[in-house]
Amino acid sequence: MSSQLEPRILFSREEIEAAVKRLAAEIRKDYLGKRPLLIGILKGSFMFMADLIRLLDFPLEVEFVRLSSYGGGRETSGEVREVQGLLSPIKGRHVLVIEDIVDTGLTTGFLLDYLQKEMPASLKLCALTDKPARRRRSVAIDYLGFSVPNKFLVGYGLDLDEKYRNLPDIYVLERD
Ligand code: IMP
Ligand code: MG
Repeated sequence: MSSQLEPRILFSREEIEAAVKRLAAEIRKDYLGKRPLLIGILKGSFMFMADLIRLLDFPLEVEFVRLSSYGGGRETSGEVREVQGLLSPIKGRHVLVIEDIVDTGLTTGFLLDYLQKEMPASLKLCALTDKPARRRRSVAIDYLGFSVPNKFLVGYGLDLDEKYRNLPDIYVLERD
């Protein structure tokens, strides 16, 4: 088998922009006047977060957390060890977690459990992409951009071994 990786566009920047606009409209309707705290999961969500919040024209706050677990390559180790970097107290806040992709669900599930213990006023999840074929624990996605096939994606924040995050479109990496 050749190890050549053939990138193919799955979602163009225009399609991503349209999806982010749709999500922003839904989020605006639900959170206007609630001064939500949006918590992005690093590193993958940084580009999505930046585009999303520019479309949210009302008071909100932004945090980022890092979850240590996902090693190199394509497979999650399945163990999320800790949440790093959450500086704002979330008790009584309307918290919206922003994620690039929900794959096995272990990462997001762990973070949602962790945040729920701090007693936020509400806790929801917004994911740009969802790969339901690989789910190992169920996670409710309240705002979803795209459901995607069981392929490895890169671009628009998503990486393979830290590469390709800067691509403005989303690609599928396929071995040929
Ligand atoms: P989960 O814990 O398996 O749901 O995976 C969570 C993390 O794995 C995501 O935040 C991504 O950083 C990474 N991940 C999962 N699938 C992909 C993919 O197709 N491309 C790039 N990163 C991925
Ligand atoms: Mg990653």
